[in-house]
Amino acid sequence: MSKVFALIKKEAHRQITGLEMIPSENYVSEDVLKALGSILTNKYSEGFPGRRYYGGNEVIDEIEVYASELANTLFGTKAAFVQPYSGSPANMAATMAVCNPGDVVMGLALTSGGHLTHGANLSFSSIFYKAVNYNVGKDGKIDYDSLERLAKQHQPKLIWAGTTAYPYKLDYEKYAAIADAVGAYLIADISHISGLIVGGVHPTPVNHVHIITTTTHKTLRGPRGAMILVTEKGLQKDPDLKSKIERAIIPGLQGGPHNHQTAAIAVSLEEAFKPSFKKYALQVVKNAAVLAKELGTISENHLVLKDLSELGFGLGYQAQVALEYAGITVNKNTIPGDKASPFYPSGIRLGTPALTSRGMKEADMIKVAAWIKRVLQEIKGLDLPTEQEKRKDFIKDIKKLLVKNKNLQKIKAEVEDFTKKYPIPGLYKHYGTKNRL
Ligand SMILES: Cc1ncc(COP(=O)(O)O)c(C=O)c1O
Repeated sequence: MSKVFALIKKEAHRQITGLEMIPSENYVSEDVLKALGSILTNKYSEGFPGRRYYGGNEVIDEIEVYASELANTLFGTKAAFVQPYSGSPANMAATMAVCNPGDVVMGLALTSGGHLTHGANLSFSSIFYKAVNYNVGKDGKIDYDSLERLAKQHQPKLIWAGTTAYPYKLDYEKYAAIADAVGAYLIADISHISGLIVGGVHPTPVNHVHIITTTTHKTLRGPRGAMILVTEKGLQKDPDLKSKIERAIIPGLQGGPHNHQTAAIAVSLEEAFKPSFKKYALQVVKNAAVLAKELGTISENHLVLKDLSELGFGLGYQAQVALEYAGITVNKNTIPGDKASPFYPSGIRLGTPALTSRGMKEADMIKVAAWIKRVLQEIKGLDLPTEQEKRKDFIKDIKKLLVKNKNLQKIKAEVEDFTKKYPIPGLYKHYGTKNRL
């Protein structure tokens, strides 16, 4: 047997015994895993249903049409493209469909919680397009007034309404008023919140935007992948939008679609129709609200952004490492107006989608928050050096220091014990790993 299976077993152990709190992660169902691991990976299918470059695609066509139909029904859209390999290529294809190189694109700044593909430095979105970023205000919320001013000034061809580290609801009506006033395409990138939208716990952008993009592997709880959805409003603005998106996907950007992934997306969309998914989405939000409150902040969705400045300077990385040693996985994150560094920022980003998939509820979030607070006590005094040249060595030493910390080891044991009550969905048993270790 391949060495890889031993490594998968090792990773399964990590996923079972720890608290996965990266807000963009989740546990997929056994059926999603089965479709993803199926023989559909064997087939080449360049093109679209009924229009393939290769023979033998009758069944693949049925699968792709089925996935698209499910997506359109679920999101209330007019066309659904399920071939993008992942969120970033979906966003690139959507941009290519509506912009020419050099056009102005506007998106929320990375440091304000935006995504790389919405116009960040070093991303295709600022290399091939003229990127203008808008920001959150002092209250941490999107500053729609400054967005409007910037839009009037720069006349973008495309405005992105989407976030990757933002704990509040988005006001798509405000976005639409701004985009319509300057004649821009408006794309909602709902990657983080698509499951919440389907579950009815976040407003849908469908009547306000021209295109929706989403990854399928976050709150939507599908395989890694993405979709581009065209709205009625999008077709009214541009009747050719569907063919422009098709051309951007192939030949613009991709070759053969990942049919196993398409099938797994279809399975996850079927699951998202079930009443149990609505309950899940509601619980994700309830859990995040409790978690945020316990940590002294606010969440209106699935995600908590915790500013650690009250504990010291630039503690995000140290917190990430300490939490990892305590069996709690989160990621370091910049906070609005961060005074530390984008690499070693002042906050952490955490969320409840994966824990909620294990069946955890509000009372569990209080326990989880208590562990997090105990861990954070252990990094007090480990402030990021203000002198740039000292940072590299300091960061190297952090791991060595924290790995020996007895309190973190004790918390890890408590966390492991706690996770025994909450099996993870999925095929763990196929890797020779029992959920109860
Ligand atoms: C809002 C948003 N868009 C796009 C992406 C990119 O997705 P992927 O990592 O699948 O390329 C992400 C991923 O974090 C995201 O949060």
